[in-house]
Amino acid sequence: MPQVTTPIRAVALISGGGSNLQAIIDAVAHHELAIELDCVISNRADAYGLVRAQQAGITTKTLDHKAFSNREAFDEALMTLIDGFNPQLVILAGFMRILTAPLVKHYRGRMLNIHPSLLPKHTGLNTHQRAIDAKDAFHGATVHFVTEELDGGPLIIQGKVAVLSDDNVDTLAERVLSIEHIIYPQAISWFAQQRLILSGDRCIFDGQALNTPRIIEAL
Ligand code: GRF
Repeated sequence: MPQVTTPIRAVALISGGGSNLQAIIDAVAHHELAIELDCVISNRADAYGLVRAQQAGITTKTLDHKAFSNREAFDEALMTLIDGFNPQLVILAGFMRILTAPLVKHYRGRMLNIHPSLLPKHTGLNTHQRAIDAKDAFHGATVHFVTEELDGGPLIIQGKVAVLSDDNVDTLAERVLSIEHIIYPQAISWFAQQRLILSGDRCIFDGQALNTPRIIEAL
């Protein structure tokens, strides 16, 4: 297995609180993750994640989607902005925009996302409520490569939590977020170490096809 020590260049995209971004920043600070986060981009100027990035000394940019007449024009400007940093990895960390096919194609194999469900269950929004409504015994989050299918790219790692009988959206979301903060830095670290690559529609992990995602279960 290759041992890579040089940090890879990365850019993160956010829209909100940025707790996953914080987990990534912390993992880098603790030398658990070999990436150089060159820029954090938000489509919302009031995203608290921008403050987190600034506090860590990371360059921030805001690109307001409302300033563009359509999704294609926004994505074109976004690609230009991202590519200015020449990243080896683009990290979607709560970026609440549907991406157009040209953008997804452009970053294929070097764009990761975290989704708050055990994919392929509950793609899209309101996943915690939907897990409760479906009486799921388990819920969680998934890190995956981004492909054209929304929340449908090859799965890398899942964090699994039990759904408790007295859970509501907030209690469940809190436990899922805690496990997100473990699995996202882990997946990024595998990518940074070149242990994880996308080949066609499959994840290759340590030279082997990853037919099912790695799973971490909350105690
Ligand atoms: C997380 O639930 C993540 O799974 C989803 O968006 C949320 C982002 O939370 N993609 P935060 O901004 O990282 O706190």
